[in-house]
Parts: sequence; structure tokens; C-alpha cells
Amino acid sequence: MGNYEDKGHLPTFSQMDTGPNSPAWLNQAVFYQIYPQSFYDANGDGIGDIPGIIQKLDYLQWLGINAVWINPCFVSPFQDGGYDVADFYRVAPRYGTNRDLYRLCREAHRHGIRVCLDLVAGHTSTDHPWFKASCLSSRNKYSDRYIWTSSTISGADIPLSFIRGYSERDGSYVANFFYFQPALNYGFAKPAADQPWQQSVDAAGPLQTRKELIKTMDFWLSHGVDGFRVDMAFSLVKLDPGHKETIKLWQDIGQKVRALYPDIVLIAEWGNPEESIAAGFDIDFVLPFGVGGYTDLMLNEKSFFRRHGGGNIRDFLKLYLEQAAKVKGKGLISVPSANHDVKRPCADERTVRDLKVIFTFLLTWPGVPFIYYGDEIGMRYIPGLASKEGGYARTGSRTPMQWGDGPNAGFSTAGEDQLYLPLDPRRNRPTVKNQASDPRSLLNHVRKLIALRRRSPALQAVSALIPLQVENNDRHFAYLRQSASERFLIVLNPSAEPSLVRINGIKPDNLVPQICHGAQACVEGDDIQVELAGISYGIFKL
Ligand code: GLC
Ligand code: CA
Repeated sequence: MGNYEDKGHLPTFSQMDTGPNSPAWLNQAVFYQIYPQSFYDANGDGIGDIPGIIQKLDYLQWLGINAVWINPCFVSPFQDGGYDVADFYRVAPRYGTNRDLYRLCREAHRHGIRVCLDLVAGHTSTDHPWFKASCLSSRNKYSDRYIWTSSTISGADIPLSFIRGYSERDGSYVANFFYFQPALNYGFAKPAADQPWQQSVDAAGPLQTRKELIKTMDFWLSHGVDGFRVDMAFSLVKLDPGHKETIKLWQDIGQKVRALYPDIVLIAEWGNPEESIAAGFDIDFVLPFGVGGYTDLMLNEKSFFRRHGGGNIRDFLKLYLEQAAKVKGKGLISVPSANHDVKRPCADERTVRDLKVIFTFLLTWPGVPFIYYGDEIGMRYIPGLASKEGGYARTGSRTPMQWGDGPNAGFSTAGEDQLYLPLDPRRNRPTVKNQASDPRSLLNHVRKLIALRRRSPALQAVSALIPLQVENNDRHFAYLRQSASERFLIVLNPSAEPSLVRINGIKPDNLVPQICHGAQACVEGDDIQVELAGISYGIFKL
């Protein structure tokens, strides 16, 4: 009884592939997500900016990162941290200028780092000039850029959120997320015959919206950007069962854009890889919504990565392997360390040691790793902060990066009260500076893991994953990663309980420890025996 399948539980083997149109660089990619307002403030106004990112490229290169995703950095009233765009073609003045962004691309490339922007495809801000024009009761070029019902007073009984009485135009608009984010009009999958305001995907208005989206992508790609993370990518066509029309729409867009820029990456915020990969995206995420999985791993009380009272890996693994099987040969799934919408892994009871187990998993897992800024030093989710720019509970995951031990942890030279958000107030808050010089720090652990991944084909995006059955203990997890030339065994114990575990059915010639803590393995007859301390990890080369 070697693996899950032998016990009739789960598929044995999963190998992913990058998509047919994916760039070759994706297999070795390690992404870093930058929340620009909180990363590094170069001009001392208290808000992070693009010149600040440029100054920190050396750090990212030192860490081993080779791609970044930057949250929206465009003109915006910032009611939702920039996900309410008022001009898709211009960098928000608080972050710098378009020229700064072009320079960031050039400098990043010099550091071997690719740059992806956040594309808010589904909606704009109510401040966007297109929306203001579409609010007018007289017909104009933008009347059909958004979705408006034909009467404000009579209701529409369908599951969309309608905002009534916003303007003199007689109609309600459809909001995509917050009320100030009107949905762009990409049409309805099956417009109701008696509701003429529901337009089909190939009506003039929706086609014009689509054209404009392609134009935006072309604009930034022509200035050196390497791809996009697409916000709410599933949301474009309305009342679209199975997202069939949205999938077709993205296939069309992807084809047109990739014809001009074959080396780009398209990353979906979708949460359902079966759909997003069919839509032509290279990567989708394991998120708390959609198919889910992230919650089972990190967030809930019974999640696997909990020291006390946590659950087993099965719920996550089942979801993950089902999805992986569905996208086999077509695209990748990523498990992010966190993002700007979820609680950072360093929250509640977790310590550096717990985080080391988590990162050992994240950086040996298939797909493309995404490290949310600050997670590599164990920055904490700060509870109880007042909401900032539509952050609400998410605000605690968006605080300034902790670089050093000077004022404002080296994030900014502004006065403390001018900072975008307050810093972690703890005196022993982690910083890059302290951890860089400590070989046992989380930062150096992450750095070592990235280096191992980048030099080991078996640990990269598409290499096989073989989950193993560990006898008698559900709080551990062991798996193999393998390529044609090499094989690794990874063993994780996120629980506080030490244990002696046996892994059956693999008889390696060698068992060479790579990055280990509290895990000792040896071959015993037909089994591998691993002695695991509480909260331990081991990567062994077989
Ligand atoms: C996505 C973003 C989130 C934003 C929302 C609306 O989920 O990640 O931060 O609020 O879309 O654009
Ligand atoms: Ca600034």
C-alpha cells in the first residue's frame, strides 16, 4: 500500500503542463505579489510607489524571484484600493508616472524579473469618464459601455446587483463588486427576449467593450509588460451558466493578444481552473472561493497547517487533484502564500517554525508559487485596523513592508501619521534586515527553497506529484516530486505532535537531506522511516 490510489482514495499521480500557448519561462517561475502602496516609499509621502519597487529589485533578485504581479496602479479614486479604475492608460500619480512604470519593466528585466500588471477587466470606477458619459440620459458613445436596465422604477428580478437612482438616466446599473464598480457591458449569455436592455455578447456595445479591453492590454504590453493577473476574470458575461460565453470571450482575447505578444502570461483570478484554463489562461489560483481549497489548507480551524487541532490534508488534496486532473496538459494551478484579500498565514498562533513548514510545502508544490509581499519574513496579519480604501477585514493584510529597524521599519521617511497604513506595532516585528543576516530565519529558508526549486527540474511547475500514504497518521503529509532525471521526497508535520512514520512502497537507493528541520529519514527494509519532531519538514533527494 504505497499511495492513495492503492487505498482507493485519490488519484496517484498528477502531472500538469503549461498551456499550449504558455511561455516556456513559466515552468521555473516564482512570483512575488506587490501591493504597491505598501511596498516601498521612495519619495517620502507615506505611500509606496513605482520608483520604490525599482529600488527593491535587488532584494527580489537576491531572494530568487523571477516574476512580480503588481496590484492595480492606475488612476483611481481608491475606494477599493485601486480596483476602481478611472483611467486604464495612466499610472496613478501617487505611484509615479507611466515613464516610471516603463522604466520598472526595463530594470526588472535587467534583474531577470518579469512584470505583470493587474487588469481590472470587469468594471471601472463610477469616476471613470466612460461611466460619467453613460450616466447621461442623452444617447452617446458610452451609453452601452455599462449594463443599464431600461427603467429605474420597474425592477429586474435576476441575480445581479442593481444600483438605482444614481443618475438622471432612467435605468439602474449593474455593479460588479462594490456599488461604485459598475460592470462593463460584455453582454448576456442568453439575453431575455422581453428585456431589450440585456444585450447579446456580439451586440455593438459589448463588442466595443471587448475591443477597448484588448487595446488596454496592447498598450501596456507594448511598453514592456509581460502579462496580467486578471481581476474577477469569470465575471464578464452576465447570467452565463458554466461561464461558457465568458470562456469564449477570453479565448478570443487571448488569441488576439498572444498573436502580437507570444511570450506573455495570463493569470486568472477565477478559482475554477477547469473553466479558466479552458478560457486560455496559463494559471489559476486555489482561492477561498470558487472550487476552494485554500481555506482547508490555511484558514479554517480544521485546516491542515494548524499546530493544534488541525485537520488532515485530504480535503485539500481531493479538491486539488480533481482540478489538476481536469487541466492536465492544458495549464497550471497555483497555491499562493496569501494575497491582499485573505488573512496572511502569519496570524493567530503561528510562529516562524509553522511558517517554515508552510513554505516548504508551497515551494515544493506543482504549479507556480506566488509569495505575497512580506510573507517571506512572516509579516503578521494585523487585526482590528480601521478599514482603508475599501479594505475592511482585508486591511490587516495590507500594512507596510518591514524592511529594517529604522523609523517606519524603513518603509518610508514620512511622519508616522502620514503612512498609508500603520506598521505592525510589535517591537520584535520581523524585518528583512534582521532576517537576511540570520541563516536560520524564515527569509533565508524561503530563499534556500527558491534556489533549490530553481535548480531542480523535479520541483518545478510541471513535474509529477505523487502523494504518498503515510501509515497511521493523518496529521502528516508526504509526497514525491519527480522529473525524468531526479526525484525528491517531501515530508511535512505541521502538528505539535512528534511521530515516527513509515512510508511504504518506495525503496530509494539514496536519501540525501536537502532542506530539513526535525525530520530524519532512513530506509528500513521495504519502507522509509521518518522520525518527525513536532512542527517539522524534510526535503530528501532520492
Ligand atoms: C478582486 C480583487 C479584490 C477586489 C475585487 C473587486 O477580488 O482581488 O481586491 O476588491 O476583485 O475588483
Ligand atoms: Ca511615495
